[in-house]
Amino acid sequence: MTTTIDVSGVSKSFGGVVANREVSLSVNTGTITGLIGPNGSGKTTLFNSIVGYHPIDSGSIKFESSEISELSVQQIARRGLLRTFQQTRIYGAMNGVENMLISLPHRKMSIWDALKTFTREDYERADHLLEFVGLYEKRMLKSGDLSFGQQKLLEFAMALMNEPTCLLLDEPTAGINPTLINGLIDRLKRANSEFGITLFVIEHNMRVIMNLAENIYCLAHGELLAQGTPDEIQNDQRVIDAYLGAH
Ligand SMILES: Nc1ncnc2c1ncn2[C@@H]1O[C@H](COP(=O)(O)OP(=O)(O)O)[C@@H](O)[C@H]1O
Ligand SMILES: [Mg+2]
Repeated sequence: MTTTIDVSGVSKSFGGVVANREVSLSVNTGTITGLIGPNGSGKTTLFNSIVGYHPIDSGSIKFESSEISELSVQQIARRGLLRTFQQTRIYGAMNGVENMLISLPHRKMSIWDALKTFTREDYERADHLLEFVGLYEKRMLKSGDLSFGQQKLLEFAMALMNEPTCLLLDEPTAGINPTLINGLIDRLKRANSEFGITLFVIEHNMRVIMNLAENIYCLAHGELLAQGTPDEIQNDQRVIDAYLGAH
């Protein structure tokens, strides 16, 4: 089994707050791996460290076997490692297709000017991926008028537009109604199985993550508490005490 992400002994503090302490974990290539833990346990911080959003204090982060902890967000994204955010980052005034296009790297110019630079293939791929996430009919609507759940689906499609080999998803189902959640789980599984994208997913919804991930890590107080299959994690007394019991 090869690994796509290798985190080894990573620590990160903000002032006096230790957000991650000596965290080591790995994401196997081609899998869906989960990350759970109470609020404030350091999950988002770890994602930010992996994608180069801020420097780490110590440790090593490897992507496809090469060290990336000194690289910028843009350099890491170019290698095919991308993330989505807890809060969606779409332009409400633009429609779905336009948001898809400007999610591609473009030269420093106004986003409206940038839209003129994309090729017909770019437009076709945007349409195809919007269809994949179930937003084809709504692709010409102002994105600000989509429901929150639809905006999350759009953000997922925008990440796919960049053809990642690995995607980090921060609470993809948060704030989405149950009907859309099932559709989203299905899309995440298909992105993994059909497009071969390795997924690393932070998730609060236990039904979702147990259904989605084959391997799950649990953080508590910034430290790795446990790792295992969904079955092992659900029955791990430390995880129950620190997280599931209060859930
Ligand atoms: N940019 C930041 N500045 C200061 N403290 C931060 C920052 N980001 C995160 N933290 C702190 O680090 C800890 C872990 O936060 P976070 O990684 O967001 O946890 P989680 O995603 O598991 O809820 C929290 O105590 C949080 O307040
Ligand atoms: Mg978080």
